[in-house]
Amino acid sequence: MIKRTLGSRTVSAIGLGGMPMSIEGRPDEQRSVATIHAALDAGVTLIDTADAYHRDANEVGHNEALIARALASYGGDTSDVLVATKGGHLRPGDGSWTQNGRPEYLLEAAKASAKRLGVEAIGLYQFHRPDPAVPYAESVGAIKQLLDEGVIQLASISNASVAQIDEANAILDGRLVSVQNQFSPAFRSSLVELEHCAALGIAFLPWSPLGGIRRAADLGDRHDAFAQVAADHQVSPQQVALAWELALAPVVIPIPGASRPESILDSVKAVELVLTADEMTLLSQPS
Ligand SMILES: NC(=O)c1ccc[n+]([C@@H]2O[C@H](COP(=O)([O-])OP(=O)(O)OC[C@H]3O[C@@H](n4cnc5c(N)ncnc54)[C@H](OP(=O)(O)O)[C@@H]3O)[C@@H](O)[C@H]2O)c1
Repeated sequence: MIKRTLGSRTVSAIGLGGMPMSIEGRPDEQRSVATIHAALDAGVTLIDTADAYHRDANEVGHNEALIARALASYGGDTSDVLVATKGGHLRPGDGSWTQNGRPEYLLEAAKASAKRLGVEAIGLYQFHRPDPAVPYAESVGAIKQLLDEGVIQLASISNASVAQIDEANAILDGRLVSVQNQFSPAFRSSLVELEHCAALGIAFLPWSPLGGIRRAADLGDRHDAFAQVAADHQVSPQQVALAWELALAPVVIPIPGASRPESILDSVKAVELVLTADEMTLLSQPS
């Protein structure tokens, strides 16, 4: 598996997104664990999660606890696996997503995440989304405190603009290691943040890199260019999407979600798919 740099860590160029295994429509635990184990077998060493990846209000951290159990029951060595979690979003249980970016809340949320993950320090902690009710500097200040106190080993932000990336990096004294924003063939407006991260040498993790849980399966039907290149290479359009994202900059680390082993096993093959300059031009046109 090809590797990419994430702060002081080296991780697989394709990560595993944990959300489909814990929100509405999730599979049973056996299939989720099989999916995580398949990813590990394939050399995936980055797993993305969040305390808010759960369905019902009384099961905060469902995905974090699931990942911890799957790592514990895996037969092989997992010491090089980086579990990246997030805080700042909440799910009251009615299907909605709410926010809390208050520093005191984030400090407690991170400690609760560490407990569920069964670690003394969280490998990578991401501020999930700016809270309009709280000054951004105050929320990121809490992330800095967590870093300084050793509750987290690496600090990151998500759903951030270019200005917020610069502000967060300054607050963190240049220790911002990654940015996680939505980016896919269907959602390209965060290319500006991707390019900003590339210029700064900060990792960029596209979320919903296949267009999201409900749209990933028919990516090829929605984007002709991806279907065409996929047919030429005899691979899936999803592999083409991930290979295109990887080729945009060496800082890009897509985190496709999966709830079936087959999905992540197909996705990891994107690291072997080499696209020509003409194909990159074609795929980079809006579709
Ligand atoms: N920071 C944020 O605000 C934020 C927001 C959303 C998501 N995320 C993170 O980003 C991750 C990825 O986003 P996402 O899960 O929303 O959307 P996604 O990765 O675009 O799509 C996920 C779906 O793609 C399917 N899939 C994966 N690989 C495939 C393949 N090779 N061929 C066909 N289908 C494939 C999976 O199907 P099966 O379920 O059938 O396996 C899965 O349900 C999440 O899991 C989460 O960790 C972060």
